Formats: sequence, structure tokens, C-alpha cells
Amino acid sequence: MINDLWYKNGIIYCLNVGSFMDASGDGTGDFPGLLRRLDYLQGLGVTAIWLMPFQPSPMRDGGYDITDYYAVDSRYGTLGDFVEFTHGCQQRGIRVMIDLVVNHTSDQHPWFQDARRSHDSPYRDWYVWSADKPADAESGIVFPGVQTSTWTYDDASQAWYFHRFFHFQPDLNTANPHVQAEILKIMGFWLQLGVSGFRMDAVPFVIAVKAPGQPQPVEQYDMLRTFREFLQWRVGEAIILAEANVLPDTDLDYFGDDGDRLHMMFNFQVNQTLFYALATGDTRPLIEAMDATRSKPATAQWGNFLRNHDELDLGRLSEDQRQAVFAAFGPERDMQLYDRGIRRRLAPMLRGNRARMELAYSLLMTLPGTPVVRYGDEIGMGDDLSLPERSCARTPMQWSTEPQGGFTKSDKPYLPVISRGSFGYQTINVAQQRRDPESLLNWMERIMRMRKEVPEIGWGDFAILGTGTPEVLALRYDWRNNAVLVLHNFADTAREIALDVAAVDGGSRDLINLLSEDHSHADDSGQHHIRLEAYGYRWFRVGGLDYLLKRSDV
Ligand code: GLC
Repeated sequence: MINDLWYKNGIIYCLNVGSFMDASGDGTGDFPGLLRRLDYLQGLGVTAIWLMPFQPSPMRDGGYDITDYYAVDSRYGTLGDFVEFTHGCQQRGIRVMIDLVVNHTSDQHPWFQDARRSHDSPYRDWYVWSADKPADAESGIVFPGVQTSTWTYDDASQAWYFHRFFHFQPDLNTANPHVQAEILKIMGFWLQLGVSGFRMDAVPFVIAVKAPGQPQPVEQYDMLRTFREFLQWRVGEAIILAEANVLPDTDLDYFGDDGDRLHMMFNFQVNQTLFYALATGDTRPLIEAMDATRSKPATAQWGNFLRNHDELDLGRLSEDQRQAVFAAFGPERDMQLYDRGIRRRLAPMLRGNRARMELAYSLLMTLPGTPVVRYGDEIGMGDDLSLPERSCARTPMQWSTEPQGGFTKSDKPYLPVISRGSFGYQTINVAQQRRDPESLLNWMERIMRMRKEVPEIGWGDFAILGTGTPEVLALRYDWRNNAVLVLHNFADTAREIALDVAAVDGGSRDLINLLSEDHSHADDSGQHHIRLEAYGYRWFRVGGLDYLLKRSDV
């Protein structure tokens, strides 16, 4: 039964339909284009595709401002195209997850339009109103520097409405049972069309009590159980992956003590400390974050990521730590965003350094949890800082050296294709990397395949082994009488470590290298001496060849 929990040991690939592949030639990516690229994604080895919002939207926040939850924006195709896409995924054994953005709607949504027309509207109580300007109207802002308040006066209805995000994203009154029923209906609709789960947007805000004078959010965690139960009744394998950038001591409130709430959460704690480790070589805060997020129910899982479609949020680091990451990866004002983050993509932050990119991705694949990869990172795509805010990291996929990187036949893509400098499509594209066995793309494919062949990482318990060297992280996973050991050197020079590795069940102490022929044998005192080159990494199976005879999962 436990093997059925696909999300414990998969690889999720996040993409935006509009940026992926344009089949119609109008400059915007669409479902027919995406369908043509499914063999590429299958070849890469992804087990689930997470689609960013594709429902009708005025697109004032990258589609996170929806006007109809039950449709596909005509820019991307039709509902029919969507079903062709999910069918295509099903045929290839790829699951589909979609964004579920129900903390707020667009202000153009018919519900809000109706709600503001009259205080008697049946939708009035679907939103959050105040007759007077709330005293806390300037607090709780999510996008400092761009957003100015969390309450806006609506002339039409002569009242203030609440919006955690931008003023054109009025918050839904999620405590209203009608709104809750509608959220379930939305999930039910997309489940019926073949999706296996949802990346739930802004979960802490969805479940917060929303009313004037609520500066400290009060969460209604029971709501999460309602979502979970509904999902499981309809489709047993479906999951919710929560976007919840919260402190570790509330993790279990989201997962549920018995695993009866959300299946997955993004691990923001690990994400931020990981970038600190990449910036400074100091792995201690990362180790603390891994320890702090260790406990979770057996059926729950962390989603790990490097970069996503938003800024790299460093808000949970100390001021000194944050400044260290800024100095290394986003020293210029223009690279930073919302007073707390960096808006660049991974490859430019790491200056296109292949060894560092491999280190970062090897880590992503081996940290406790399920890796979530961002489209374009598999070829090392860059960013366009001339675009506003987060758009810089959402440029079209670079497929080939054809005009517009092969993304569209139109000469006016909806966001410019990166076409200058070392990250331009002429240099960074899928077609060339596909032909080159040494390319990042082919390395990614190999490392992803290896990750899927090491279920210990998704399922097992982890231990952090002492290396005596703060720049070298040694992680060991044990599961069903098997063990793997992964090493990562964050330093820009070589490090030699001595390591004591306990055998599994009386087996050999040898370490079999999973990525090369460079195996390690313990010395007479049982110690391994391993030299890691600058930014080097190793994946070992503990126990020599006898592990094969003992494996109980094959
Ligand atoms: C989440 C999304 C972000 C969006 C916001 C409002 O944080 O990741 O892109 O702007 O929610 O929906």
C-alpha cells in the first residue's frame, strides 16, 4: 500500500503554459504546444507536471488573479485541449498537478463584480468588507515596495475590501460555508478532468480569519482536513502541495498530527538556508533547518526546490545571513525584490558555473523530500532583469537556435525570449544540449533517473554524519535494510574528509559510487577517506555488492 504514495518518490516539474511552447503562432504558449513537448518531459524523467494558473485572467499577477475557475484562458487553448493534454500525460505515466488559487479572485471575477454592486448580493459575504478604513490597512503587506495596503476603498459599494495581495486580488471570505463548498467544487471539477493534485496557493492566508483588526493571523486548520477528506473521497491518489512559508513549529498543524491534513509542503526553511550554504560554504544553518523540519507524519512529504516562479525569499534568514546571500548572488539593487529576496534565476546566480550548478541540483535531488524542478533550469536558462518584478524569471523556454528560440513563430512573444549574452537562446537551448552527451540537460536526465532509483531518499530516515569540515554535508538515508550516503562539498576548493560509516545489518562497509567507478573501501579502523573536489558531490550505496542480495524493495 505504502508504495502507492507516488509523491513520496517522484520528480515534479513546474511550468507555465504561456512560456513553454506556442503551437498557434500567436506568441503565447498553449496546450497544443505543451502536448508536443510531452515526449521531451517524459524523456527527462519527470513524474508530475505542475501547471501554474491557466484559467481566464486579466493577467495582472501572472494568472494568480482568476476570473473563472472552471475554464481555460483562450490564450492557452480550450478545455478540450486541456483534456487532450491530461490524456497525453496519462499515456506517458506523467501526473498533472495544477495551481489552486482560492485565497482571492481577480477583481474582475463576476462574484466580486456582483458583490460590489449591492450589499444584498448573494456574493457580498464571499468577500471581506469593512465600512470604515481599518486601522491595520497598511500592515501585512506581501509585496512591499509595490503593494501599498491590504484594504482598498471600493467606490461602487462605499466600503473597504480586504486583499492580502494586490488591490486587484480581493480576498475570498474562506470562512463562509458557501465559499468553502465552492473550493471543493473547483477541486472536484479538475479532478474529474484528470489531475492528480493541487499546488495550493498561499495556504496560511486561505485558512486565516479575515476581518478588520486581525494583524496576527489566526489559522483555522480544520479547513485543511475538509479539503483533504474531499480529495481522498473523490480520488484516492490526489494530493495537495501547500505553499506555506511558515515556521517549523507549525508544520504539523499543516500536515496534521496523524497525516490527516495536507500531503506536501514546500520546505522554505531548507530553501533559504541552502542558498546561504551555497553563498558562504557554511552548512550549519542548513543542518539546523533539516533538523527543525524533520518530524512529519509517515505519509507526508516535503517539496524541495531551488528557484521557483517567485523571488528567492530570504525573509527567514538573519539580517547577516541575508546580506551574505545578497552579496554572493544578488549584489545589485535591481536583482533584489520586496526587501527580502532575489529575483534572478539559478544559473546566472551561480554565474553559469557547471560544477556549482551540479552541486545545487545534486543537493535538490538528495535532500529529504521530493524535488520540484523549474522549467528551463534543466538547460541552465537565465533571466531578463529589464522585465519588471518576477517576470524576469518567467521568459519563454529556449528550445533551439531558431528565431525566438524555437518557442514561437510569431516575432512578438508575450515576454521577450532571452537573446543576448551568455544565456541567450543561441547558446542555451534544448536542441544543442540534447545532442551533447556532456550537456547539463543530459546530466540532469541522468541524475533524475538516479534519484528515482534511490527510493531511500523519499522514504527513509536521514542522519547527518559528522565530517569535521563545515563545508561538507554528509547525509545518510536508511530504509528497509538499505542505506545510501550522499556527500556535498560547498567549498570552492577541495576537501578531504574521514568518515565512519556503519554497515547495514552486518553487511560490508564498502561504499559503492552510484555515479562513477570511484568506490570507497574502509581502512582497517573502519574509516573512509574521501577527497571531494571543489563543489564536488558523491552518491554512495552503503554495503558493497551484498546490498543487491538484500534489497527488499525489488
Ligand atoms: C503566491 C504565488 C505568487 C502570487 C501570490 C498571489 O505567493 O506564488 O506568484 O503572486 O501567491 O496569488
